[in-house]
Amino acid sequence: MSQDYHGFISRVKQLVGIDLSLYKEAQMKRRITSLRDKRGFNSFIAYFEALKQDKELLNEFIDRLTINVSEFYRNPKRWEVLQEKVLQHLIKDKKSLTIWSAACSTGEEPYSLAIMLKENFPDVQANILATDIDEKALDRAKQGIYKEQSLKDLPEIYKNKYFVQKNGLCYLDDQIKKMINFKSHNLLADRYPQNVDLIVCRNVLIYFTDEAKQNIYTNFSNALVQNGILFVGSTEQIFSPDEYNLSVYDTFFYERINQN
Ligand SMILES: C[S@@+](CC[C@H](N)C(=O)[O-])C[C@H]1O[C@@H](n2cnc3c(N)ncnc32)[C@H](O)[C@@H]1O
Repeated sequence: MSQDYHGFISRVKQLVGIDLSLYKEAQMKRRITSLRDKRGFNSFIAYFEALKQDKELLNEFIDRLTINVSEFYRNPKRWEVLQEKVLQHLIKDKKSLTIWSAACSTGEEPYSLAIMLKENFPDVQANILATDIDEKALDRAKQGIYKEQSLKDLPEIYKNKYFVQKNGLCYLDDQIKKMINFKSHNLLADRYPQNVDLIVCRNVLIYFTDEAKQNIYTNFSNALVQNGILFVGSTEQIFSPDEYNLSVYDTFFYERINQN
């Protein structure tokens, strides 16, 4: 059974370029097994043969791997700190910021950043890159259409100003959509952008093995400018940040510091 699974993940890597051995095994195996069983395959090999031939089955499989749940202003207290403290710190000596929302899913996170900057730092020129491994999530992000539930923590005033509500859905204003450059990027395989002032990477590191996380922290640290900030999810604190030339700036925020 375990051999069957390990053979499966190495074939999946060849087929779609996603290395599942870098994701926590128990959780990933459970998710994939339940989908495989639901589709009526009793071995991973048989399931893989079907994935190779059936595009829809493959899309469903990729969808299951990538957990796309997101919200505007997710964990609003942290977004307050971002606005009041972190962004103030970052713009102290500059008028333009390079920001990367990594694993942005369907766009709620980069759009929250865009709204925050436009409303509170209108003189700052913001280059916001938003990336994810999941092309379907990126397509939805570009559309900018959301269920009301995902806006529950967005300040009401912004909700009224930047969304049109129709048939129970919320349509984001084009001027905010235009502020984001969406791109496909695999955190486990692709080159990282450089000279970034702020990296927001939340609620994805929890899925990776410790080894994969360590590589990602190193890459993030190298991607940041001196004194740049990494903003992680609310269960994702880094245990020895100094190993990556990072220091705690505030809870769930890390600052890039000098190499020793
Ligand atoms: C739970 S969502 C997080 C969305 C957003 N950052 C937030 O906190 O609301 C996790 C996202 O990570 C993406 N993801 C998973 N593995 C990835 C990888 N190797 N590289 C880039 N993105 C990945 C998934 O496609 C999914 O959209």
